[in-house]
Amino acid sequence: MYKEELTIIVKSIIASNTVNEHIKSAQKLSDFYNENTKFKHSESNEISIKGGVALSSSGAADCVDDYLRTVFFIKGVYKALIKLCADFPERSINVLYAGCGPYATLILPLLPLFNKERINAVLIDINNSSIKSVQNLLSIFNLEDYKMQLVEADATTYIKPEDFSIDLAISETMHYALTREPQVAITKNIMQQLSSHSLFIPEEIKIDLAFSFFDFEPYLKKAVYEGKGRKQLQPYSHNVFVDRLFTINKEHFSRENPNSIIESSFYILPDNFADHPDVCLFTEVKIYEDIELKTAESYITNPYCLVSMYSIKDYSEIQLIYDFSEIPQWSYKLKE
Ligand SMILES: C[S@@+](CC[C@H](N)C(=O)[O-])C[C@H]1O[C@@H](n2cnc3c(N)ncnc32)[C@H](O)[C@@H]1O
Repeated sequence: MYKEELTIIVKSIIASNTVNEHIKSAQKLSDFYNENTKFKHSESNEISIKGGVALSSSGAADCVDDYLRTVFFIKGVYKALIKLCADFPERSINVLYAGCGPYATLILPLLPLFNKERINAVLIDINNSSIKSVQNLLSIFNLEDYKMQLVEADATTYIKPEDFSIDLAISETMHYALTREPQVAITKNIMQQLSSHSLFIPEEIKIDLAFSFFDFEPYLKKAVYEGKGRKQLQPYSHNVFVDRLFTINKEHFSRENPNSIIESSFYILPDNFADHPDVCLFTEVKIYEDIELKTAESYITNPYCLVSMYSIKDYSEIQLIYDFSEIPQWSYKLKE
């Protein structure tokens, strides 16, 4: 019964075409999880590690309510799995899901759409209660026949088994501007274990520098009531794009790079900044191929204000530094 209901919901997510349809189908998935899970998700089991903070199980469960994020990631994972099934028709597809949370939201709802022999997945979470919750859901939803290995581990250091060649890796462990959560440290570790044909979701995370008026930029505060698509969002009209600071993708981590610090060039601060006084960072996520999350469509693509130029006006150039060696954060250096 649960499996049939889940199949209808996930099909509606994949077929959804408009923002209203995306939101409605994600709400159904959220209700389905809330109504059928017996677990009380803890709010106090946040874990800090080198590389970032792992959300509490309650915080991780709430991510399903970031509606456009949930829908676009599920669509992306589905599209990637269809491609891999076509490329490798004779064998199962190996999936590594790093940071699955208590709902395994980005793979579990898709399982009924695939024959159980086709998917062979390793699901990792650092939080024991998330692992237990997923185990419980697989049994409630009658999905126990699928090859799902649940592992309690730190995905920033996890080493895959030698005989498990990853076809698709998935990790959504990010906060806007790549602050706070360990997306980059996890991506770095997992990407170094991929083969040339492997896909990683999200495919790219782009961080852009712009001078703007932060308070006038679109910002998602409550997805439940305010979720908007890119066509309805109005970027601030005097926003001045400065540069793309970096793109996190397979190429970025293709070389052995022990560094956990990314430094930008120096950028000239404008003399007249009344219309755009804030040094801001914008995040865009290319989930897979044409499936993307733009500014403020999701909490993870909300803009971030690093500093106001009113407080740094005696300097003429600024350099931005991203450091993910501990809790990921941005800082800056100034040049006269
Ligand atoms: C933002 S939540 C997302 C949950 C789920 N993947 C989703 O998309 O709805 C991130 C999850 O990653 C887990 N996590 C964060 N850092 C981790 C790490 N270093 N190793 C394993 N899991 C981690 C957290 O415990 C949390 O469950």
